Amino acid sequence: MISPALTRDELRALAAAGGAAPSLHNSQPWRFRPSADLRRLEVYADYRRAVPVTDPDGRALHISIGAALFNLRVAAVHFGRAPVLRLQPGHPGRQPIAELDLAEGRQAGPEPFGRDLYPAVFLRHSSREPFANRDVPEAVLGELLDAAHTEGTVMTALEEAEVRRVLDLTAEAEARIAADVARQTETRTWLRPEAPAVDGIPAAAFGPQDHDARVPMRSFTGRPPAPAVLAPPPTRRFEALPQLATLTTHGDRAADWLRAGQAMERVWLLATLHGLRVSVLHQAVEWPDTRRLLRDPEQGPGHVQLVLRFGYGPPGATTPRRPVDEILDLPADPGAAQGM
Ligand SMILES: Cc1cc2nc3c(=O)[nH]c(=O)nc-3n(C[C@H](O)[C@H](O)[C@H](O)COP(=O)(O)O)c2cc1C
Repeated sequence: MISPALTRDELRALAAAGGAAPSLHNSQPWRFRPSADLRRLEVYADYRRAVPVTDPDGRALHISIGAALFNLRVAAVHFGRAPVLRLQPGHPGRQPIAELDLAEGRQAGPEPFGRDLYPAVFLRHSSREPFANRDVPEAVLGELLDAAHTEGTVMTALEEAEVRRVLDLTAEAEARIAADVARQTETRTWLRPEAPAVDGIPAAAFGPQDHDARVPMRSFTGRPPAPAVLAPPPTRRFEALPQLATLTTHGDRAADWLRAGQAMERVWLLATLHGLRVSVLHQAVEWPDTRRLLRDPEQGPGHVQLVLRFGYGPPGATTPRRPVDEILDLPADPGAAQGM
Protein backbone atom coordinates (compact mmCIF):
# COMPACT_ATOMS: atom_id res chain seq x y z
CA MET A 1 0.00 0.00 0.00
CA ILE A 2 1.54 3.30 -1.12
CA SER A 3 1.28 5.94 1.59
CA PRO A 4 0.75 9.65 1.05
CA ALA A 5 3.77 11.94 0.93
CA LEU A 6 5.15 12.83 4.33
CA THR A 7 3.76 16.04 5.78
CA ARG A 8 6.09 18.71 7.13
CA ASP A 9 4.97 17.82 10.66
CA GLU A 10 5.77 14.14 10.09
CA LEU A 11 9.18 15.05 8.69
CA ARG A 12 9.89 17.24 11.69
CA ALA A 13 8.79 14.50 14.09
CA LEU A 14 11.04 11.97 12.29
CA ALA A 15 14.01 14.34 12.44
CA ALA A 16 13.42 15.02 16.13
CA ALA A 17 13.52 11.27 16.79
CA GLY A 18 16.68 10.80 14.72
CA GLY A 19 18.30 13.75 16.47
CA ALA A 20 17.57 12.31 19.92
CA ALA A 21 20.09 9.50 19.31
CA PRO A 22 23.26 9.13 21.37
CA SER A 23 26.53 10.26 19.75
CA LEU A 24 30.17 10.49 20.72
CA HIS A 25 30.48 13.58 22.99
CA ASN A 26 26.93 14.50 21.86
CA SER A 27 28.42 15.69 18.57
CA GLN A 28 25.21 14.85 16.59
CA PRO A 29 27.01 14.37 13.25
CA TRP A 30 23.90 13.98 11.05
CA ARG A 31 21.65 15.79 8.61
CA PHE A 32 18.33 14.67 7.14
CA ARG A 33 16.90 15.68 3.75
CA PRO A 34 13.58 14.54 2.23
CA SER A 35 13.46 13.50 -1.43
CA ALA A 36 11.54 15.71 -3.86
CA ASP A 37 8.47 13.41 -3.69
CA LEU A 38 8.58 13.52 0.14
CA ARG A 39 8.51 9.72 0.36
CA ARG A 40 12.17 9.11 1.19
CA LEU A 41 14.50 10.59 3.75
CA GLU A 42 18.20 10.87 2.96
CA VAL A 43 20.67 10.75 5.83
CA TYR A 44 24.00 12.56 5.55
CA ALA A 45 27.10 12.53 7.72
CA ASP A 46 28.03 16.01 8.91
CA TYR A 47 31.81 15.79 8.95
CA ARG A 48 32.11 19.28 10.45
CA ARG A 49 30.92 17.55 13.61
CA ALA A 50 33.54 14.79 13.53
CA VAL A 51 35.79 14.18 16.54
CA PRO A 52 38.98 13.40 14.60
CA VAL A 53 41.59 12.92 17.34
CA THR A 54 39.46 10.50 19.35
CA ASP A 55 37.80 8.97 16.27
CA PRO A 56 40.28 9.21 13.35
CA ASP A 57 38.51 6.61 11.15
CA GLY A 58 35.01 7.99 11.71
CA ARG A 59 33.98 4.69 13.30
CA ALA A 60 32.19 6.33 16.23
CA LEU A 61 30.68 8.89 13.85
CA HIS A 62 29.08 6.07 11.87
CA ILE A 63 27.92 4.32 15.04
CA SER A 64 26.25 7.56 16.12
CA ILE A 65 24.54 7.91 12.73
CA GLY A 66 23.50 4.25 12.96
CA ALA A 67 21.74 5.05 16.24
CA ALA A 68 19.95 7.96 14.55
CA LEU A 69 18.91 5.61 11.72
CA PHE A 70 17.37 3.22 14.20
CA ASN A 71 15.40 6.02 15.86
CA LEU A 72 14.15 7.08 12.41
CA ARG A 73 12.97 3.52 11.75
CA VAL A 74 11.18 3.40 15.12
CA ALA A 75 9.49 6.75 14.51
CA ALA A 76 8.48 5.76 10.98
CA VAL A 77 6.78 2.61 12.27
CA HIS A 78 5.12 4.65 15.00
CA PHE A 79 3.69 6.97 12.31
CA GLY A 80 2.24 4.06 10.34
CA ARG A 81 4.97 3.50 7.72
CA ALA A 82 6.93 0.39 6.78
CA PRO A 83 10.43 1.86 6.46
CA VAL A 84 12.97 0.25 4.15
CA LEU A 85 16.54 1.29 4.92
CA ARG A 86 19.24 1.30 2.26
CA LEU A 87 22.78 1.80 3.53
CA GLN A 88 25.09 3.54 1.08
CA PRO A 89 28.26 3.87 3.14
CA GLY A 90 31.45 5.08 1.56
CA HIS A 91 29.79 8.17 0.11
CA PRO A 92 31.75 10.96 1.74
CA GLY A 93 30.36 14.43 2.24
CA ARG A 94 27.78 15.37 -0.35
CA GLN A 95 26.23 11.94 -0.92
CA PRO A 96 23.77 10.42 1.57
CA ILE A 97 25.19 7.49 3.52
CA ALA A 98 21.74 6.02 3.99
CA GLU A 99 18.27 6.42 2.62
CA LEU A 100 15.03 5.56 4.35
CA ASP A 101 12.24 4.66 1.95
CA LEU A 102 8.92 5.55 3.55
CA ALA A 103 6.59 5.03 0.59
CA GLU A 104 4.96 1.90 2.01
CA GLY A 105 2.34 1.96 4.71
CA ARG A 106 2.47 -0.50 7.58
CA GLN A 107 0.27 -3.59 7.29
CA ALA A 108 -1.73 -4.66 10.30
CA GLY A 109 0.24 -7.32 12.17
CA PRO A 110 2.82 -7.78 14.85
CA GLU A 111 4.89 -4.84 16.03
CA PRO A 112 8.10 -4.93 13.91
CA PHE A 113 10.41 -4.37 16.90
CA GLY A 114 8.52 -6.67 19.27
CA ARG A 115 7.05 -3.62 21.02
CA ASP A 116 6.60 0.09 20.36
CA LEU A 117 10.01 1.51 21.18
CA TYR A 118 9.02 5.09 20.28
CA PRO A 119 8.30 6.25 23.88
CA ALA A 120 11.87 5.29 24.83
CA VAL A 121 13.42 7.46 22.09
CA PHE A 122 13.02 10.63 24.17
CA LEU A 123 13.42 8.96 27.58
CA ARG A 124 16.77 7.29 26.84
CA HIS A 125 19.91 8.91 28.21
CA SER A 126 23.37 7.86 29.29
CA SER A 127 23.46 7.26 33.03
CA ARG A 128 27.01 7.71 34.35
CA GLU A 129 25.85 7.30 37.94
CA PRO A 130 26.64 4.30 40.19
CA PHE A 131 24.14 1.46 39.76
CA ALA A 132 22.59 -0.75 42.46
CA ASN A 133 24.15 -4.09 43.35
CA ARG A 134 21.27 -5.90 41.67
CA ASP A 135 21.55 -8.45 38.87
CA VAL A 136 19.91 -7.85 35.50
CA PRO A 137 17.48 -10.82 35.11
CA GLU A 138 18.62 -13.46 32.62
CA ALA A 139 15.36 -13.13 30.66
CA VAL A 140 15.91 -9.39 30.15
CA LEU A 141 19.53 -9.94 29.14
CA GLY A 142 18.35 -12.59 26.70
CA GLU A 143 15.92 -10.12 25.09
CA LEU A 144 18.72 -7.55 24.71
CA LEU A 145 21.05 -10.10 23.10
CA ASP A 146 18.27 -11.12 20.70
CA ALA A 147 17.65 -7.47 19.79
CA ALA A 148 21.33 -7.00 18.90
CA HIS A 149 21.29 -10.24 16.91
CA THR A 150 18.25 -9.13 14.88
CA GLU A 151 20.26 -6.10 13.76
CA GLY A 152 23.06 -8.31 12.43
CA THR A 153 25.49 -7.96 15.34
CA VAL A 154 26.54 -10.08 18.29
CA MET A 155 26.12 -8.85 21.83
CA THR A 156 27.83 -10.86 24.56
CA ALA A 157 26.92 -10.46 28.23
CA LEU A 158 30.23 -10.80 30.08
CA GLU A 159 30.87 -13.22 32.96
CA GLU A 160 32.80 -12.05 36.02
CA ALA A 161 36.33 -12.85 34.80
CA GLU A 162 35.67 -11.15 31.45
CA VAL A 163 34.13 -8.11 33.18
CA ARG A 164 37.30 -7.71 35.24
CA ARG A 165 39.51 -8.06 32.17
CA VAL A 166 37.47 -5.48 30.20
CA LEU A 167 37.48 -3.08 33.17
CA ASP A 168 41.30 -3.37 33.34
CA LEU A 169 41.60 -2.64 29.62
CA THR A 170 39.23 0.30 29.97
CA ALA A 171 41.25 1.68 32.89
CA GLU A 172 44.44 1.37 30.84
CA ALA A 173 42.80 3.19 27.91
CA GLU A 174 41.34 5.86 30.18
CA ALA A 175 44.81 6.53 31.67
CA ARG A 176 46.21 6.99 28.17
CA ILE A 177 43.40 9.37 27.24
CA ALA A 178 43.99 11.37 30.44
CA ALA A 179 47.68 11.74 29.49
CA ASP A 180 46.98 12.66 25.86
CA VAL A 181 46.94 16.45 25.55
CA ALA A 182 45.44 16.44 22.03
CA ARG A 183 42.51 14.25 23.10
CA GLN A 184 41.90 16.22 26.27
CA THR A 185 41.89 19.45 24.29
CA GLU A 186 39.45 17.99 21.75
CA THR A 187 37.15 16.62 24.45
CA ARG A 188 37.04 20.03 26.15
CA THR A 189 35.67 21.58 22.97
CA TRP A 190 32.57 19.39 23.47
CA LEU A 191 31.98 20.32 27.13
CA ARG A 192 29.21 22.83 27.85
CA PRO A 193 29.60 23.56 31.58
CA GLU A 194 27.88 26.94 31.60
CA ALA A 195 25.88 28.32 28.72
CA PRO A 196 22.65 26.84 27.41
CA ALA A 197 23.78 24.71 24.48
CA VAL A 198 22.47 22.66 21.57
CA ASP A 199 25.20 20.00 21.62
CA GLY A 200 28.05 18.69 23.75
CA ILE A 201 27.99 17.54 27.35
CA PRO A 202 26.47 19.71 30.10
CA ALA A 203 28.02 19.74 33.60
CA ALA A 204 25.07 17.76 35.00
CA ALA A 205 26.03 14.83 32.73
CA PHE A 206 29.79 14.69 33.47
CA GLY A 207 29.24 11.91 36.01
CA PRO A 208 31.37 11.02 39.03
CA GLN A 209 34.50 8.88 39.10
CA ASP A 210 34.41 5.62 41.10
CA HIS A 211 35.74 6.18 44.64
CA ASP A 212 37.26 2.68 44.58
CA ALA A 213 38.60 3.05 41.03
CA ARG A 214 36.87 -0.21 40.00
CA VAL A 215 34.63 1.16 37.23
CA PRO A 216 36.69 3.45 34.97
CA MET A 217 34.06 5.93 33.77
CA ARG A 218 35.28 8.43 31.20
CA SER A 219 36.54 11.54 32.94
CA PHE A 220 35.29 14.49 30.89
CA THR A 221 36.94 17.08 33.12
CA GLY A 222 40.42 15.56 32.79
CA ARG A 223 43.31 16.27 35.07
CA PRO A 224 43.79 19.61 36.81
CA PRO A 225 44.60 22.37 36.17
CA ALA A 226 41.21 22.97 34.62
CA PRO A 227 38.93 25.98 34.85
CA ALA A 228 36.77 25.96 38.00
CA VAL A 229 33.63 25.31 35.91
CA LEU A 230 35.18 21.97 34.91
CA ALA A 231 35.69 20.80 38.50
CA PRO A 232 34.94 17.05 38.58
CA PRO A 233 31.92 15.95 40.63
CA PRO A 234 32.82 14.25 43.98
CA THR A 235 33.78 10.57 43.67
CA ARG A 236 31.10 7.94 44.45
CA ARG A 237 31.08 4.18 45.18
CA PHE A 238 30.04 2.21 42.10
CA GLU A 239 28.47 -1.24 41.93
CA ALA A 240 30.81 -4.07 42.92
CA LEU A 241 30.52 -5.99 39.67
CA PRO A 242 29.03 -4.06 36.75
CA GLN A 243 26.98 -5.89 34.12
CA LEU A 244 28.98 -5.31 30.94
CA ALA A 245 28.33 -6.45 27.40
CA THR A 246 30.36 -6.15 24.22
CA LEU A 247 28.81 -5.50 20.83
CA THR A 248 30.69 -7.13 17.97
CA THR A 249 30.37 -7.10 14.20
CA HIS A 250 31.73 -9.55 11.66
CA GLY A 251 33.44 -6.89 9.53
CA ASP A 252 34.93 -3.53 10.39
CA ARG A 253 33.82 -1.18 7.65
CA ALA A 254 31.41 1.73 7.48
CA ALA A 255 28.38 -0.55 6.88
CA ASP A 256 29.33 -2.60 9.96
CA TRP A 257 29.60 0.56 12.05
CA LEU A 258 26.17 1.76 10.88
CA ARG A 259 24.79 -1.68 11.80
CA ALA A 260 26.46 -1.55 15.22
CA GLY A 261 24.88 1.85 15.88
CA GLN A 262 21.43 0.55 15.01
CA ALA A 263 21.92 -2.49 17.23
CA MET A 264 23.19 -0.36 20.12
CA GLU A 265 20.14 1.90 19.92
CA ARG A 266 17.71 -1.00 19.61
CA VAL A 267 19.23 -2.58 22.73
CA TRP A 268 19.32 0.77 24.56
CA LEU A 269 15.64 1.61 23.82
CA LEU A 270 14.51 -1.86 24.87
CA ALA A 271 16.64 -1.67 28.03
CA THR A 272 15.05 1.72 28.79
CA LEU A 273 11.54 0.23 28.57
CA HIS A 274 12.72 -2.47 31.01
CA GLY A 275 13.73 0.24 33.50
CA LEU A 276 17.44 -0.36 32.93
CA ARG A 277 20.04 2.40 32.70
CA VAL A 278 22.88 2.23 30.24
CA SER A 279 26.26 3.88 29.80
CA VAL A 280 28.91 3.45 27.14
CA LEU A 281 32.50 2.58 28.10
CA HIS A 282 34.20 3.34 24.82
CA GLN A 283 37.73 4.15 25.92
CA ALA A 284 39.31 0.75 25.20
CA VAL A 285 37.79 0.69 21.71
CA GLU A 286 39.67 3.91 20.91
CA TRP A 287 43.16 2.32 20.93
CA PRO A 288 43.94 -0.47 18.42
CA ASP A 289 45.81 -2.67 20.92
CA THR A 290 43.27 -2.49 23.76
CA ARG A 291 40.48 -2.86 21.20
CA ARG A 292 41.99 -6.12 19.91
CA LEU A 293 42.31 -7.42 23.46
CA LEU A 294 38.65 -6.67 24.19
CA ARG A 295 37.75 -9.64 22.04
CA ASP A 296 36.91 -12.69 24.05
CA PRO A 297 39.07 -15.41 22.41
CA GLU A 298 36.27 -17.95 22.99
CA GLN A 299 33.80 -15.88 20.96
CA GLY A 300 35.67 -16.39 17.69
CA PRO A 301 36.39 -13.71 15.12
CA GLY A 302 34.74 -10.31 15.12
CA HIS A 303 35.41 -6.68 15.86
CA VAL A 304 34.32 -5.14 19.15
CA GLN A 305 32.53 -1.87 18.44
CA LEU A 306 31.15 -0.98 21.86
CA VAL A 307 31.26 -1.86 25.53
CA LEU A 308 27.95 -1.19 27.28
CA ARG A 309 27.22 -1.11 31.01
CA PHE A 310 23.70 -1.97 32.21
CA GLY A 311 22.13 -1.57 35.63
CA TYR A 312 19.50 -0.08 37.87
CA GLY A 313 20.01 3.44 39.12
CA PRO A 314 19.12 7.07 38.60
CA PRO A 315 18.27 8.22 35.09
CA GLY A 316 20.99 10.08 33.27
CA ALA A 317 20.89 13.85 33.03
CA THR A 318 19.17 15.22 29.95
CA THR A 319 21.51 16.47 27.24
CA PRO A 320 20.80 19.19 24.69
CA ARG A 321 19.94 18.66 21.03
CA ARG A 322 20.23 20.86 17.96
CA PRO A 323 16.89 22.33 16.87
CA VAL A 324 15.12 20.34 14.15
CA ASP A 325 15.54 23.22 11.67
CA GLU A 326 19.32 22.80 11.91
CA ILE A 327 19.34 19.08 11.10
CA LEU A 328 16.44 18.84 8.62
CA ASP A 329 16.64 20.43 5.16
CA LEU A 330 12.97 21.10 4.42
CA PRO A 331 12.01 22.43 1.00
CA ALA A 332 10.51 25.92 1.04
CA ASP A 333 6.93 25.84 2.28
CA PRO A 334 4.65 26.96 -0.60
CA GLY A 335 1.86 27.65 1.89
CA ALA A 336 4.07 30.09 3.82
CA ALA A 337 4.95 31.97 0.60
CA GLN A 338 1.22 32.51 -0.08
CA GLY A 339 0.70 33.65 3.47
CA MET A 340 -1.42 30.58 4.22
C1 LIG B 1 30.11 5.83 19.72
C2 LIG B 1 29.80 6.39 21.08
C3 LIG B 1 30.78 6.40 22.07
C4 LIG B 1 30.50 6.89 23.35
N1 LIG B 1 31.46 6.83 24.32
C5 LIG B 1 31.16 7.20 25.58
C6 LIG B 1 32.12 7.00 26.64
O1 LIG B 1 33.20 6.48 26.44
N2 LIG B 1 31.77 7.40 27.88
C7 LIG B 1 30.56 7.97 28.14
O2 LIG B 1 30.29 8.30 29.30
N3 LIG B 1 29.62 8.14 27.16
C8 LIG B 1 29.91 7.77 25.90
N4 LIG B 1 28.97 7.90 24.91
C9 LIG B 1 27.66 8.50 25.22
C10 LIG B 1 27.56 9.93 24.70
O3 LIG B 1 28.43 10.79 25.42
C11 LIG B 1 26.12 10.40 24.83
O4 LIG B 1 25.30 9.59 24.03
C12 LIG B 1 25.90 11.85 24.43
O5 LIG B 1 26.60 12.71 25.29
C13 LIG B 1 24.40 12.22 24.45
O6 LIG B 1 23.88 11.99 25.72
P1 LIG B 1 22.67 10.98 25.97
O7 LIG B 1 23.13 9.60 25.69
O8 LIG B 1 22.34 11.19 27.43
O9 LIG B 1 21.53 11.40 25.08
C14 LIG B 1 29.23 7.42 23.63
C15 LIG B 1 28.23 7.40 22.63
C16 LIG B 1 28.51 6.89 21.38
C17 LIG B 1 27.42 6.84 20.33
